[in-house]
Amino acid sequence: MEKIVSLCKRRGFIYPGSEIYGGLASTYDFGPLGVELKNNVKKLWWKYFVQDREDMVGLDGGILLSPKIWEASGHVKNFKDALVECKQCHLRFRPDKLKDASKCPECGGQFTDPKLFLGMFKTVIGATDKDGVEAYLRPETAQAIFADYKSVLDSTNKKIPFGIGQTGKAFRNEVTTGNFIFRVLEFDLAELEYFIAPDSDWKKIFEDWLSYIYGFADLIGLPRDKFVNHEIPAEDRAFYSKRTIDIEYQFPFGQDELWAIAYRTDYDLSAHQKASGQNLEYFDEATKKRFLPHVIEPTFGVERTILALLSEAYREEKMENGETRAVLKFKPNVAPYKVAVFPLLANKENLVAKAREIYQELKKDFNVAWDERGNIGKRYRSQDEIGTPFCITVDFDSIEKGDVTVRDRDTMKQERVKIEKLKDFLNEKIVK
Ligand code: GAP
Repeated sequence: MEKIVSLCKRRGFIYPGSEIYGGLASTYDFGPLGVELKNNVKKLWWKYFVQDREDMVGLDGGILLSPKIWEASGHVKNFKDALVECKQCHLRFRPDKLKDASKCPECGGQFTDPKLFLGMFKTVIGATDKDGVEAYLRPETAQAIFADYKSVLDSTNKKIPFGIGQTGKAFRNEVTTGNFIFRVLEFDLAELEYFIAPDSDWKKIFEDWLSYIYGFADLIGLPRDKFVNHEIPAEDRAFYSKRTIDIEYQFPFGQDELWAIAYRTDYDLSAHQKASGQNLEYFDEATKKRFLPHVIEPTFGVERTILALLSEAYREEKMENGETRAVLKFKPNVAPYKVAVFPLLANKENLVAKAREIYQELKKDFNVAWDERGNIGKRYRSQDEIGTPFCITVDFDSIEKGDVTVRDRDTMKQERVKIEKLKDFLNEKIVK
């Protein structure tokens, strides 16, 4: 983990938040490479879960929603965790996360009695605190989906079963911190609510979604043997769920929740129907029946996905010349840069001009890095460390014969490719 954290900072993936002011615990900023990685993950998620499926549409709901939504959904009452403080060293812990909740794991001290605290951040809408309306930053994106579900039905041709997907920021007032971006105050969620008839075979639909989720793991290059499905017993499930599986992953610091899937029944829609006084029932044209749909909810933390991708991709490898290289073996579809272009020598005008031409042309289709510093070996090391799958070197033969050297990050093998064939070559490798 230490190596990953240090690489992330050094190469511009992830910085500690507000660092020039001494930092703000459990917050991070995504740097130039981190934002590319994150956007790739979100785009792949959107394509796979929303665009590729006929039974799905998207939504971009607000971070600020009426506080009535959070009261109706049960979050104001139930989105709380217990907190204990060590009487000796004053460190705070969530008792449900401790292996042994009787003594402080840091100093062996006694704990205070547990106190409940709200996991939602509060804010104020209005000119002053006194006149303002207290509101919450959303701790999940799901509620906007429930609140808008009727509007989506009325404005599209979707029929049940169908789903609504959404990605966006969520906020949680976490008191226990640590493990880099695993548990943070602010993170991107990607989740979907799949609306089904109450009498449908929810167990099968749940299993179908679970296996579809594993297709996403394959798509972004997370190996299946690192996953464990953890069936959550009734007493530990979220207040809204009838069945939950935490899809856990073997992170470098241990196995923990990466994604989850829950059967939320009609808990949310029936709560919103009651609290809003609006009829949220669905009318089934075929059976002429009215009902409140139930939902299956697959949910994905983007930060945790990125942490899994980074820890999976990071390798240190001994090379033939005895040196060790650090390399991020991302699948090309998530890699921040797909390809880097170098002129063999930075002081030869014709090489630089040809290389710039190729760089500009490839940039129309891919995110491309440019490097002319140092020697070729150093440039390869530098691109390996940020996970660029291919490096193109433009040399004197390129000008004579119209081909370039393409070097593969993983095999370190080089091959000559015709300049006019470069796009096809890269497209084929990146899609695979
Ligand atoms: N709408 C369902 C829901 O919010 P959750 O299990 O509480 O379910 C969903 O959260 C996902 O969000 C988790 O599987 C995890 O990936 C991510 N997540 C939760 N809390 C997080 C935190 N503090 N920092 C980073 N990711 C978090």
